[in-house]
Amino acid sequence: MDATLNEQISFTPVTEKVGSLVDGINLAEPMSAETFAALRRELCERAVLVVKNQKMTPGQQIDFSKRFGELEHHVLSDLCLPDHPEIFVVSNIIEDGKKIGAYDGSRIYHIDCAYLDKPSMGSVFYCLEHPPVGEGGETQVVNLAAAYEALPDDKKEFLKDRAVVRDYVWHYERNHADRTSLTDAQKARTPPIEHPAVVTHPETGKNVLFIDAMYCRRFGDMSEADSKPIFDELIAFADREEFKYAHVWTPGDVMIWDNRGAVHKRLAFDLENTRRRMHRTTIMGEKPAYQPQ
Ligand SMILES: [Fe+2]
Repeated sequence: MDATLNEQISFTPVTEKVGSLVDGINLAEPMSAETFAALRRELCERAVLVVKNQKMTPGQQIDFSKRFGELEHHVLSDLCLPDHPEIFVVSNIIEDGKKIGAYDGSRIYHIDCAYLDKPSMGSVFYCLEHPPVGEGGETQVVNLAAAYEALPDDKKEFLKDRAVVRDYVWHYERNHADRTSLTDAQKARTPPIEHPAVVTHPETGKNVLFIDAMYCRRFGDMSEADSKPIFDELIAFADREEFKYAHVWTPGDVMIWDNRGAVHKRLAFDLENTRRRMHRTTIMGEKPAYQPQ
């Protein structure tokens, strides 16, 4: 593909409120600052981008992802590519008795690396192998700025100035009994942290409902038992049809989501009789903040 194609970029909305399909771009090739700026702007406004028919080596995916910022090295280092620790493998494939990637995770709405004090800015998710269309495994993304905007005023008032406590170890120990236990060093890297429940997107200035169903343990000033039904209600609100888009994968597809403005999850598929292999790069972010508007 000719690098000049990267100057022909165009965007088409995939639903009214979330997602854009990007055409005229080859992520494996260099692109101008103007093209990249257009891509980044669209990502921030639409929460997720879809780019089809891509072919990237791990090094090319890393080079493209670094245009956004420095990359995370996932705390589960044995699930990253040995030669490219920036690539986190998500897969149900078992080779020589060993799971080659994160197996059967991501089934509930989450924000990648939201359990860090400085959560990820965004993720680049590249599909290398996938079950056929119609057999599940879609990635569903919700635009949390659109969800926040539509929230009733009493909910906005409740969330204003409230914190949420995110806790990776708590999540891991409840949900990944099948995986190896976290080491003390891994636990030390992921202590419970607090974020505002509403954050102001640093690039669009829009307020975002900064809640996920995976890592949020409780509100800062409330018990787990009192917090859970409120988290459930907020996630159910965000899960409305109008705010979400489920991408049906074909190998070669790339999704880029904005972790500062979206939650996502993977829909069910046959884990035991199909092959799904995805490469994720995760871009480092800043400490989230809420600015009253
Ligand atoms: Fe994820």
